Amino acid sequence: MGKNVQVKMGPLSVSPMGFGTWAWGNQLLWGYQESMDAELQRTFNLAVENGINLFDTADSYGTGRLNGQSEKLLGKFIREFPGKRAPDDIVIATKFAAYPWRLTAGQFVKACKGSLERLQIEKMGIGQLHWSTANYAPPQELALWNGLVAMYEQGLVRAVGVSNYGPKQLLKVHDYLKARGVPLCSAQVQFSLLSIGDEQMEIKNICDSLGIRLIAYSPLGLGMLTGKYTPSNLPLGPRALLFKQILPGLEPLLISLREIAQRRRKTLPQVAINWCICKGTIPIPGVKTVKQAEENLGALGWRLSSDELLQIEYAAKESPRQMIQNIFQTR
Ligand SMILES: NC(=O)c1ccc[n+]([C@@H]2O[C@H](COP(=O)([O-])OP(=O)(O)OC[C@H]3O[C@@H](n4cnc5c(N)ncnc54)[C@H](OP(=O)(O)O)[C@@H]3O)[C@@H](O)[C@H]2O)c1
Repeated sequence: MGKNVQVKMGPLSVSPMGFGTWAWGNQLLWGYQESMDAELQRTFNLAVENGINLFDTADSYGTGRLNGQSEKLLGKFIREFPGKRAPDDIVIATKFAAYPWRLTAGQFVKACKGSLERLQIEKMGIGQLHWSTANYAPPQELALWNGLVAMYEQGLVRAVGVSNYGPKQLLKVHDYLKARGVPLCSAQVQFSLLSIGDEQMEIKNICDSLGIRLIAYSPLGLGMLTGKYTPSNLPLGPRALLFKQILPGLEPLLISLREIAQRRRKTLPQVAINWCICKGTIPIPGVKTVKQAEENLGALGWRLSSDELLQIEYAAKESPRQMIQNIFQTR
C-alpha cells in the first residue's frame, strides 16, 4: 500500500491517517505554551509535506484565554505554508460544542462562521457535532441536527459528521439528516486498543453499513500506548491520575505491542496506529512535536498481518483496565 493513497470520506479524499490538535492551545491537560508554536508549525508543515491532509480540531480547543487557539494556529499554519501556498485539498474537521446556550440551528451556523473566521478559510472540510445532548438535554438535540443541516445548505461545510455518538443515537441522526437530504460522512469516537469492546465494533459495523467513515480518536490512549510512560514515569498534569490506574494492568498489551514492533522494525505508536487502520478506521493521533509526527507517519505504508492483529487483540483483552469512556458518549 502506497503511503499517500487517499481514502474516500463522503465527498472528500483524505489521507489514511489525520492528525489531532487538541493539545494545540490546551494548557490544563497537555501543558501547552505559546513558545511551542514554532515547533507545532514545523510539525504541521512536515505532515502536509508527507501527504497528511486531514486535521481534527474543535471550537472548544484551547483553555481559558486561549479558547479557539487550535483553530487559529491551524489557520495561521495554512496561510504561512512554505513555498507558494498550502495544498487545496487540506481537510479541516472541526467540532462544534453543544454548549447549553446553543439552542437553535442559527447558533450552530454562527458557531461555524466563528470557526471559519478563526481559521481564515471560506469553507470547512467537515463540520462535526462534538457530542450529543441526548443523555442530559434531549430537547437540544434537534437544534444540533438542524444546525448541521443549515450549515450544509448554506455551503459553509463540505460535509458533516458527529462525535461521541453511540450506535442508537448514530442511527437516529443519520436517518434524520438523510431525510433532510444531508449525507452523514463521519462518526468520530474513542477507538483504540485501550477501548476495544462490543460497543466499539457495533459502531464500526453501523458505519460500514451506512457508508459513514469512523474517525478513531485517542488512538494512542492519550499516550499510554506509546510505551514511554510507566507507573514510575507519569506525564505531568491530570493524565497522571488516569495513567496510574490503567498502566499497571497494561503489561500484557504493551509486551505484545513491543514484541510485534521489534519483529517488524516498527515502534509502539506505529503498531498501535496501524491497528486502527487495519480495523478500517481513520486514526487521528495527537501530535505535539516534529519527532512525534515523523514517527507516527511510519504507521503508514504497511499493514499488520491477521495473525498479528489477533495476537494484539488477545493481549488487549487480557489487560484488565481500559480507558474511561467520554462522559458525553451516548448509547
Ligand atoms: N471527539 C472527541 O471528543 C475527542 C476526544 C479526544 C481526542 N479527540 C481528537 O483526537 C486527537 C487524538 O487524541 P488524543 O490527543 O486525545 O490522544 P492520542 O492520540 O491517543 O495521544 C496523543 C498524545 O500522545 C503523545 N504522542 C503522540 N505521538 C507520539 C509518539 N510518536 N511518541 C511518543 N508520544 C507520542 C503526545 O503527548 P505527550 O507527548 O504529552 O505524551 C500526544 O499529544 C485529539 O488531538 C483530538 O483532535 C477528540
